[in-house]
Amino acid sequence: MQTDNHAKRILLGISGGIAAYKAPMLVRNLRKMGADVVPVLTQNATRFVTETALQAVADNRPRTDLWDADAEAAMGHIELARWADALIIAPATANVIARLANGIADDLLTTLYLATTAPVFVAPAMNVKMWEHAATGRNLERLRDDGVTVLGPADGAQACGEFGPGRMIEPDEIAEKVTAAIGTPRVLDGTRVLITAGPTREFLDPVRFISNRSSGRQGFALAEAAHNAGAQVTLVAGPVHLPTPTGIERIDVVSAKQMKDAVTCRAPHADIFVSVAAVADYRPHTVHGQKLKKSQQRSTDFRVALKENEDIVGSIAGVKPRPFVVGFAAETESPLEHAREKRRRKCMDAIVVNDVSDPAIGFDSSDNAVTLIHAGGEVGLPKMRKGAIARRLVDEIAALYASAGRG
Ligand code: C5P
Repeated sequence: MQTDNHAKRILLGISGGIAAYKAPMLVRNLRKMGADVVPVLTQNATRFVTETALQAVADNRPRTDLWDADAEAAMGHIELARWADALIIAPATANVIARLANGIADDLLTTLYLATTAPVFVAPAMNVKMWEHAATGRNLERLRDDGVTVLGPADGAQACGEFGPGRMIEPDEIAEKVTAAIGTPRVLDGTRVLITAGPTREFLDPVRFISNRSSGRQGFALAEAAHNAGAQVTLVAGPVHLPTPTGIERIDVVSAKQMKDAVTCRAPHADIFVSVAAVADYRPHTVHGQKLKKSQQRSTDFRVALKENEDIVGSIAGVKPRPFVVGFAAETESPLEHAREKRRRKCMDAIVVNDVSDPAIGFDSSDNAVTLIHAGGEVGLPKMRKGAIARRLVDEIAALYASAGRG
C-alpha cells in the first residue's frame, strides 16, 4: 500500500446494488487522479462485483469482513478508518443509507463509517420508488445533517425497467467531485461569497414570459468550486433544473426584480459577489392578471411594451463599502472589446467573458471557454468542462481578491 503523503487515500465502500458493476471503473478513475484506493465490499456487493476484479484495478486487497483475521492483522479496521482521507460509498443502496443514518455498525463498511473522521461521500443508487420513499428522504436528510456529501443520483433508465431519479452518477463524475472536494487548496477560506446563476423570467401574463437560454450550470459549478475552496457560499438562483451543491445556501428567485431584492440585502454581508446570472434586461411594461386571449393580442402585429430592469451588478458595484465584484458577459461579437467596456462602465473589479456565438461552449453546453479581464490584465482559459473552468476562476478570483488587499 502506498504511503506517499501526496496520494489521496480513499476507502471505496461498495454496497449491493446493480451499479456495483461500475465499481472497478470508479477505482480506475480515482487511481488516474492519483489516489490510493482500498475497496470495501458489503456481503451483498460480492454478488454483483468480484474481489478479483477490484484487486486487479485497485492494486490493494479488497476488504469484506470485519472478522478476517489476516486482513485485520495487516491493518485493523480502526487503523483503516484513520488511514483514509475520504470514504466514498458508491453505490449506496437504500439499505446502507438507512444503516448509516442510524449509526448501525453491523459490518465492516458501516463500522468504518462510524470510525472515520474523514469526509464521507455517498452516491445513492436504487429503484425510483425506493428513492422517492419518505424513509429514504429522511435518512438522507440525517446523513446531510451529519456532514455527509450526497452525490446525485442521476435521472434516467433504470436496470429494473423504470425511469426516473435513482441511477448512480457516473464513476468519472464521482471521482471528479470527490477529488475536487478533498484536494482543493482552501484559497477562499473564511470568505463569504454571493453568487447569482441561471436566467430570470419576466412574465407577460400567468403563462407567458421572456427569458433566455442560460442553464445555470456555470454559476452552480462556481458555487461548488468556491465552497470546496473554503468559502461560505450563498447562491441566488433563477429558474433552473439543477440540484443544490452540498453545503451551499440556495435562494430561489424567478424575476430580475426578485433577484435584485435577494442580492441587495445580502451583498453588504458578502466579501465577494459573482454575478453569473443572465438577468433579463427588460420586462413587460404591463403584467396581465389573466392569460391574454388571441383576440386581445389583436391581429398579426401584436406588440409588447417593455421597460428596463435595474442592473443588479451595477447597483452593487456602485455602493461603498462593497464586496469585490466579478461580472460575467455573454457576447456574440467582439467579446473582449465589449467586456472591457462593460467592466469599466459597471465598475466591476473583474469580468468573465465568453463568446456565445460558438454553439460548442457557453449557454446550455457542458463546456466553456472564457477570458477573465481585470484592471491589471487578462487571463484566457481554453475550452474545458464548466467545473474545471469554475475551479480555475476561483483560483484567479481568490488571487485578485487577495492582491486587492481584501483577502
Ligand atoms: O450588460 P450585460 O447584461 O451583458 O452584463 C452582464 C453582467 O451584468 C452579468 O454579470 C449579469 O449578471 C449582470 N446583470 C445584472 N443585472 C441586469 C443585467 C445584467 O446584474 N439587469
